[in-house]
Amino acid sequence: AAKLDAFDNHERVWHGRDEERGLNAIVAIHNTVLGPGLGGTRVWPHETFEAGLTDVLRLSRGMTFKSAVAGMDFGGGKALIIANSKTDKTPALLEAYAEMLMALNGQYFTGEDVGFTVADADFLRKRTPNVTGTTVGGSGNPSPVTAHGVFLGIKAALKHRGIATLDGVHVAVQGLGSVGWTLCQKLHAEGARLSVTDIDAARMEEAQKVFKATPVALDAILKVEADVFAPCALGGVLSAENIPMLGAKIVAGAANNPLVRHEDARLMMERGVLYAPDYVINAGGLLNVAAELAPGGYDREATMAKVAKIPETLADIFARAEAQKRPTNDIAAELAFERINAARRD
Ligand code: NAI
Repeated sequence: AAKLDAFDNHERVWHGRDEERGLNAIVAIHNTVLGPGLGGTRVWPHETFEAGLTDVLRLSRGMTFKSAVAGMDFGGGKALIIANSKTDKTPALLEAYAEMLMALNGQYFTGEDVGFTVADADFLRKRTPNVTGTTVGGSGNPSPVTAHGVFLGIKAALKHRGIATLDGVHVAVQGLGSVGWTLCQKLHAEGARLSVTDIDAARMEEAQKVFKATPVALDAILKVEADVFAPCALGGVLSAENIPMLGAKIVAGAANNPLVRHEDARLMMERGVLYAPDYVINAGGLLNVAAELAPGGYDREATMAKVAKIPETLADIFARAEAQKRPTNDIAAELAFERINAARRD
């Protein structure tokens, strides 16, 4: 735990405020030992500034781990615009945000996250080079690549449990957004049985039609006795209170920070639940956007080869965790520390 704490301090946190244009943004750079901060911009109407700050600090810290474990030369960073993406995200607000990014002088590169779309990235790209995930000479929407990595990760977890095929495997998916929907497509195509939930009723209806998915109430998805629970909505969905109610024996999904507290992964381990650490299984999108910043530009084939390593990394983490009787997220953090500490010594 002492080692974990050593990475808790963020290098820099900026607060950008432009009342006239409606901008209230935080850019958090957690750690740049491996390279400049890279991580998406979230647009979410947090009720208080403190709630937003907590969210963005946790997310930017997670990006440090994600880049390190995926073998990338980037550090951890994340941004939050405290606003409702449907009603407040005006061109004026995005203009003000682009100016904030420019003022950061390339210490932080951004891209898509919840509430921040490819169209927004394209809008920013015309104003600042510090944006990825654009269609303007870039790689576009990272979500399908994230979904592909999660899909491969679910298969790796099943394989670890001796299940070789998705045929007839039951997956409970929380959140049918960009990643969750594509994940459902892939799972359905290989014969998985789906239970789904989303706050968006239209998405639920569509999933019933397209995937013959079973709709589940929001607060019931965790209890579904599925083979896999795939959290693909927001973070903070697993806690000491509800882990005892988990119906699935594997937790593997896209959501960042699904655990309220890192330490609670131990409770999952004790229940015999195999947990695929978030930043390992959901690194596909980051690998995809980072490829845009490579010297030769975006190379899809090389990127997908890196995404194909996600299940290998997970298999290694699962094996080490089992051998050492430790939670999988401790092992994943250790992998990240090894890389960052080695770079520090260079
Ligand atoms: P999204 O915004 O497209 O989808 C989220 C979905 O979850 C929406 O359909 C929303 O209605 C639903 N939702 C929200 N609250 C819910 C709740 N309480 N219960 C059930 N459903 C709820 O977001 P996206 O891009 O699909 O991302 C999903 C998660 O994966 C997020 O946590 C994100 O940070 C993470 N992630 C996404 C990556 C990407 O490439 N898009 C990359 C890495 C992580």
